[in-house]
Amino acid sequence: MDIDSSEDFQKIDVANKATRQIGLVRKDCLEQGIVDVETVAEAYHAVKLDQAKTGIWCYDNFTEGGSNSSGLVRSSAHLGTKECIIWPINHYLALNRHPKVVDAAIDAIRTFGTGCGTSAMSGGHSSLHKLAEKRLADWMGKEEAILFPTGYSANVGAISALAKGPSCFILFDRECHASIIDGVKLSGAKFLPFRHNDADDLNRKLEKYAASYENVLVVVESVYSMTGEEACLREIVDLKHRHNFLLFVDEAHSFGLHSDRTLCNKLGVTENVDFVMTTLSKSTASIGGVVATTPAFKTLMQVEANAYLFQASIPPSDVAAILAAMDVIEMEPQLLTSLWSKVGYMRGKLKGIGFDTGEGTSPIIPVFVRDSDTLLKMGQAMYEDGIFTTSVAYPVVKHSEVRFRFILNESHTYDQIDRTLDVMEKLGRKFGVI
Ligand SMILES: Cc1ncc(COP(=O)(O)O)c(C=O)c1O
Repeated sequence: MDIDSSEDFQKIDVANKATRQIGLVRKDCLEQGIVDVETVAEAYHAVKLDQAKTGIWCYDNFTEGGSNSSGLVRSSAHLGTKECIIWPINHYLALNRHPKVVDAAIDAIRTFGTGCGTSAMSGGHSSLHKLAEKRLADWMGKEEAILFPTGYSANVGAISALAKGPSCFILFDRECHASIIDGVKLSGAKFLPFRHNDADDLNRKLEKYAASYENVLVVVESVYSMTGEEACLREIVDLKHRHNFLLFVDEAHSFGLHSDRTLCNKLGVTENVDFVMTTLSKSTASIGGVVATTPAFKTLMQVEANAYLFQASIPPSDVAAILAAMDVIEMEPQLLTSLWSKVGYMRGKLKGIGFDTGEGTSPIIPVFVRDSDTLLKMGQAMYEDGIFTTSVAYPVVKHSEVRFRFILNESHTYDQIDRTLDVMEKLGRKFGVI
C-alpha cells in the first residue's frame, strides 16, 4: 500500500515527516484526537518511509556477518551496504568471537541439543544451567542465583515478584532501563522515580514515603546504559542505616568488567545489596539474565516470577557460551586491562576534540548532540563515512539530551578508534556540534 495516499493518513498532520522524530508520532496523533491503532500505525510507517527515502532513518540497520568491530552493514534507509567500524554492540570483551566460547557453544549443541523446550520449573534446565547458576552466584557474591531467559525478563520477572501489590513501594532511578520500569509497572506496587543518581533525593523520598509501606524496594543500575556513568552505590547503600528497604542493583554494564567481577564487589557493598542482577548478553556475549540473592528470595522468584515460570529457558549452547566466557575472563585478565586502556584513550580524545561526553567512565561513550535534526543528519553522514553507531533519540532520552552512543569493545583497534575520531571531528565541525 502507498502509505502517503492512505485516506486515513491524510487526516494526520505530522509536520516535517522527513526530520520528525519517530517517537513523536503517537503524541501528534493524540493531539489530533486520533486513537485508532491502524491509523496510528500508518502514521508511524509513513514517517519511517519518508526518513528512509531521504536517508536519515537510522534504525534497523544490520550487519551482514554478525557482530564484530568492523564489517559490512546494510542500511535500512536505502543507503546500501557499507564497510563500517561497528559501535552499537555491547560485547565489551568481544567474546562472541573467542574460539573457546564458540567451541563450547558448538560442543554443547552436540551434547545437549538445541533449545530447552520448556521453562525451568517444568524441567527445561540441564546440568549446564545449574552449573551456571552456581558459578554466577559465586561471582556475584551471593548464596544463590536464578537464571532467566533474558536480562529484560529477569528485571520484569524479579521486580514484579519482589514488590507485589499496593502494600509495596518502589523507588527507582529516573534513568533506569525500560525492563526495570516495565517490571515496576507490572508489580502493581506504588512507585516513584528519584532524580538521576541523586542519593539526597532518594533519601528525601524514603523519608517522606517509606514508613507507609510494608515493603520498599529501591532499584538502580551500577552503570547507566545511556550515559556510561557509575551509580553512587556507596551513598545509596549508606541510606540503609537510616531506612528500611531492599536494594536491587542491575549490573548489566559492569558485570565481568572488573577483576572483582561486579561493581558491587569492587566497591565492597555486595553484602548490603539484596539483589545483584545482570544480563548475560553483554560481557559474556550470550543471552540470559540472572538475579543473585538468598535461597529464600530465589524460591520466591521461582514461584512468583511469571517470566521464570512461563518462559522457556536459555538454550544449552548459550549457557555453555556464558560458562566459557567466564573461564576466559578468569584466565585472560589482559582483556580487561586492554579494554580499559582503550576506554581511557577514546574518552580522552573525544573530550580533547571538544565533544561533550558527559560524566561517565565506562566503555559506553555518549557524544551529546542535543538537537534532534542534527542527530539524524549527522548520523546519516557518519554512516556514509563508514561509522555505524546508535543515534539515541526521543523518547528514549529528552530532546535536549539526544546523543550518539559508542560502545567500545576490546577488539576495536587503535586504528579504528583513530579513524572514528577523525570522522567525528570533521562532521562535528560541519554540523556545529563542536
Ligand atoms: C541496564 C540494562 N538492564 C537490562 C537489559 C536487558 O538485557 P537484555 O537485552 O540482555 O535482555 C539491558 C539491555 O540493554 C540493560 O541495558
